[in-house]
Amino acid sequence: MALNLVVLGPPGAGKGTQADRLAKAKGIPKISTGDMLREAVRAGTEIGLRAKAIMESGQLVSDDVIIGVVRERLDKPDAQRGFILDGFPRTVAQARALDTLMNGRDPLIVVDIVVPEAALVERLTSRLVCSTCGTNAEGVSVSAMDTTPCVRCGGQLHKRSDDSEAVVLERLKVYRRDTQPLVDYYRSRPTFRAVNGAQPMNRVYEDLAEAVDSAASGGALGGAVR
Ligand code: AP5
Repeated sequence: MALNLVVLGPPGAGKGTQADRLAKAKGIPKISTGDMLREAVRAGTEIGLRAKAIMESGQLVSDDVIIGVVRERLDKPDAQRGFILDGFPRTVAQARALDTLMNGRDPLIVVDIVVPEAALVERLTSRLVCSTCGTNAEGVSVSAMDTTPCVRCGGQLHKRSDDSEAVVLERLKVYRRDTQPLVDYYRSRPTFRAVNGAQPMNRVYEDLAEAVDSAASGGALGGAVR
């Protein structure tokens, strides 16, 4: 059975960190709409030009555009063996569109990573990422940003343009309004799980992997945070 997984959670919950690791372990692609949009901005494509200001203000790119991007990506051969979606869906309209795209595929597993808001603000306003490959820099302070290269590619570290405190607060507002309702959209499905993301990364990974295995094997409902 193909693993078709959605990693849900607020900005900074650790979706990208965990999805990256699980995708490598399972040998399936991680599909991050945030990464795809940032790549489009860097490449100066039409979508990138339209998305740049929206992303920098913490708002969401339109459902039509992002659904089209995901539809095209899920059609690629590597996504037929399974995939991990990070940052999609983000609205009920996107979730409905994804349900349609899942026709004829193995069932969707949805895992919500739950983290208190104060921790999210702290994580995001102190986050440094590589300006070349986008990898998060672990344990590097802002004062050491210019002298510490990315561990993956040697690129220059920087702060994401949407990680200022004002934009982070806006992203959290948008999350509460548009994305949190997805937890209710998915909660009653037998393949929905929630994990506690306010733990060390390795522990979150273990809980995520266990939640995925239990959902895949049809275990009991997992709406409560473990
Ligand atoms: P996107 O890139 O998806 O941003 P996001 O959802 O706000 O998520 P982040 O990447 O900021 O956080 P994350 O949960 O992946 O956490 P991470 O692992 O990096 O989207 C950006 C923008 O693109 C959106 O605002 C929107 O404009 C647009 N967009 C994207 N998708 C869209 C869609 N579907 N529809 C419309 N618009 C869309 O971790 C964060 C930090 O915390 C890191 O420093 C990490 O090291 C640290 N950390 C992780 N886990 C832990 C832990 N357990 N303990 C301590 N620290 C941790």
